[in-house]
Amino acid sequence: MVHAYVLIRILPGKLAEALAQIQKTPGVKMAHAVTGPTDIIAYVETESMDTLGRLIVSRFQETPGVTVVAACETAGHPAIGRDAGEVAGIGANGVTIGAQAQAVFDACEAAIEFSTPEASVAHAKLAAAQKRIHVIGTTGLDANAERALGEAAKSATIVHAPNMSLAVNLLFALTRQVAKTLGPEFDIEILEMHHRHKVDAPSGTALGLGRAAAEGRGVKLPDVQQLARQGITGARRRGDIGFAALRGGDVVGDHSVIFAADGERLELTHKGSSRQIFARGAVHAAIWARGKPPGLYAMTDVLGLKA
Ligand SMILES: NC(=O)c1ccc[n+]([C@@H]2O[C@H](COP(=O)([O-])OP(=O)(O)OC[C@H]3O[C@@H](n4cnc5c(N)ncnc54)[C@H](O)[C@@H]3O)[C@@H](O)[C@H]2O)c1
Repeated sequence: MVHAYVLIRILPGKLAEALAQIQKTPGVKMAHAVTGPTDIIAYVETESMDTLGRLIVSRFQETPGVTVVAACETAGHPAIGRDAGEVAGIGANGVTIGAQAQAVFDACEAAIEFSTPEASVAHAKLAAAQKRIHVIGTTGLDANAERALGEAAKSATIVHAPNMSLAVNLLFALTRQVAKTLGPEFDIEILEMHHRHKVDAPSGTALGLGRAAAEGRGVKLPDVQQLARQGITGARRRGDIGFAALRGGDVVGDHSVIFAADGERLELTHKGSSRQIFARGAVHAAIWARGKPPGLYAMTDVLGLKA
């Protein structure tokens, strides 16, 4: 919760040198490495980056009426035993980061989690046992994990959203609405830009926008998607939803949905410049969930946008 991973590329023959350099650097250690055909891509773990855990702790500090009462990390993490406020860079807040999620759910009214699918499912069970609010931003949950959240949500108030940004969730709803209103004479194109380290394209959010547009049109995205174009592609098919991905610099995430007809164009754009948007949305969701009955909620519920 209180560290970040930084992606580095190790050139052929430089592994020993890179490892020695990492070992020498305080607060940094090797996390994962993947060997590619010509080089090694490694994730280095650091405690000094702009991480979600740190941002959530500082967001709580700035939000009237709420306070951080407990924080935990996975067993063996270097942040365990340290003050959560100090790790977050906002000054000591007297909350020591522990290794036991149980203690968090004992102490809190609401827990916020951006971790792994396995941890999120295990913690949702703790939330259920204690009838707590559990805001989960973790992505990549499979059908079994989703089912487990549904089960836990019989006793816990769970908000689960793959994108916690309030404005991005509003963009999903607007995209659905505009696609429904304007009809197929408007060509839909989705343009996204992310930092140079992003390894997948189009982004999950771009695909989510495509799904929202397809829902608005009453079609299934796989039937109309054009995920990339190259060479002699032929003319655009009516009703297609096109995607384009740009990569460069340190762009956190920009998304535009363009509705283009003859003679006019409507563009909906969101630009993320900080991961704070996820922390802000998660804290907003936790406050919204206060007093809500047990259930599995989405950001559309939090924003009152349920179709
Ligand atoms: N919903 C959103 O808006 C949103 C935004 C950003 C990231 N994410 C998702 O959140 C997840 C985490 O992303 P990240 O970039 O913060 O990753 P990260 O690896 O930087 O942070 C995850 C943290 O969870 C901790 N953790 C893992 N297991 C734990 C356990 N059992 N108990 C306590 N702590 C545990 C890890 O040690 C780590 O510090 C990913 O699934 C990512 O896709 C979602």
